[in-house]
Amino acid sequence: MALKISFLGLQAFLLLVIMFMLPSLLFSKPNGRSFDIQHLEGCQKGQKVKGLNQVKQYLERFGYLHYNDDPAHANANDDVFDDLLESAVKEYQLNHQLKPTGSLNSMTVKQMMKPRCGVPDIINDTTRMSSGTVSHFAFYPGNRQWPPDKRSLTYTFLSGVEVIDVQTLRPLISRAFARWAAVTQFTFAEAQAGAKSDISIGFYRGAHGDTESFDGPGGVLAHAYAPTIGVFHYDADENWSTNPTTTEIDLESIAVHEIGHLLGLRHSQITEAIMYSSFRPGERKRELQADDVQGIRTLYGLPT
Ligand SMILES: *[C@@H]1O[C@H](CO)[C@@H](O)[C@H](O)[C@H]1NC(C)=O
Ligand SMILES: *[C@@H]1O[C@H](CO)[C@@H](O)[C@H](O)[C@H]1NC(C)=O
Ligand SMILES: [Zn+2]
Ligand SMILES: [Zn+2]
Repeated sequence: MALKISFLGLQAFLLLVIMFMLPSLLFSKPNGRSFDIQHLEGCQKGQKVKGLNQVKQYLERFGYLHYNDDPAHANANDDVFDDLLESAVKEYQLNHQLKPTGSLNSMTVKQMMKPRCGVPDIINDTTRMSSGTVSHFAFYPGNRQWPPDKRSLTYTFLSGVEVIDVQTLRPLISRAFARWAAVTQFTFAEAQAGAKSDISIGFYRGAHGDTESFDGPGGVLAHAYAPTIGVFHYDADENWSTNPTTTEIDLESIAVHEIGHLLGLRHSQITEAIMYSSFRPGERKRELQADDVQGIRTLYGLPT
């Protein structure tokens, strides 16, 4: 009898364990490690190594590879390190102040695995960063910008997922806008409740109805669109913080960066610039640098 009870107890216990685990199995975050290419370190042209297709997809996503322009290209999605991949890796290296070896050396693999902004580094073949010299700030094709009669922009908070409450977000977003306002003719204000706004800011997870899906923890942290789309999304799956430890990402640093995109700046090759593409967890990079200020003033002119 005692044996039977404890057997039932065990069954009930197992059932409880399964019930508690089920949600975490069903709703676990996608791609716990979204982009791990550590094992590809040392790969170079001529090799075929399982997983190289991930590097191709990465370089395609951020604008360095264009197999899509040539769908007939035999190696577009396989693990072959071909000529196109080598030249894309070289361009990526030049763009990140690394020696342009064209092979996946340790520095290059490390750089690719860093958390970064989702906006491509290279947006059009015609705007490719030239090899050799370090280019600084950059604009979107056609110098996309807000029209001259539009210097007072409003923003609103609109999230697909609640990650950080608006009361917490409000002051840091306001400070991030203030830094750009200080060096331009723009003013920024939160829109009245219910009023139409120029810019919306919020947290989203995975595929969320725009051109770029988020990728779960790590990898892409946020993205924003060129003028005058006015959309700035944080990836809800990151460890966000207003005061980050070494495993968290600083909300305010990312806001200052994404506002640069909202105004028309693209990624800069200057590692110190706010508009540089990658961020370290724990990093606080909130102040505009000379390159950022020079970029925005080149696009819109000096404030009067
Ligand atoms: C890229 O450049 C071409 C030629 O200058 C232009 O027609 C095209 O619209 C550009 N594409 C994008 C995405 O801006
Ligand atoms: C988020 O924080 C946890 C706990 O500190 C850490 O284990 C995890 O790696 C972090 N996630 C990312 C994507 O950095
Ligand atoms: Zn960016
Ligand atoms: Zn989005």
